[in-house]
Amino acid sequence: MKKASLIKMAAFLAASFAIQLSGAKAALAETAEANYALYCVQCHGSAGTGKGINAPYLAVAPRNHTSDKDMSSLTDDGIALAIKEGGAAVSKSTQMPAWKSVLTDAEIKDLVAHLRKMCKCSFKKP
Ligand code: HEC
Repeated sequence: MKKASLIKMAAFLAASFAIQLSGAKAALAETAEANYALYCVQCHGSAGTGKGINAPYLAVAPRNHTSDKDMSSLTDDGIALAIKEGGAAVSKSTQMPAWKSVLTDAEIKDLVAHLRKMCKCSFKKP
């Protein structure tokens, strides 16, 4: 192989590697948002304010994920448990479903971080 074509090949490989890398990064950043859009918006709403299309039919209002007041009383572990095992596991409404058969622990962890971005808050001791 000539030196010029070797250089071309190396450039091509480097470029496709860079594309793969940026693709992987984008997929990672989208995971929690995509899961939220797929599984949570029906009740919590596309804006996360608890006003999803199902909300009027629920006995208990879904949590407003954008509310600092509502979300800062919950610990990260408590949020993860509520998502994984459902409302009943944290002594809340059973109308908040359990997602452990749909979401992995890593996806749940990402969702907790996503919710923290939505409320722009962290746990505050009362
Ligand atoms: C079928 C409707 C429904 C869906 C779908 C749903 N939720 Fe909920 N969720 C609720 C209701 C209702 C509550 C309020 C429970 C209460 O306050 O007793 C709630 C509460 C919560 C809470 C607060 C728990 C607490 O301890 O106060 C979190 C966090 C939450 N949901 C996250 C999610 C996430 C993340 C998804 C998607 C993976 C999701 N929910 C999907 C109905 C739903």
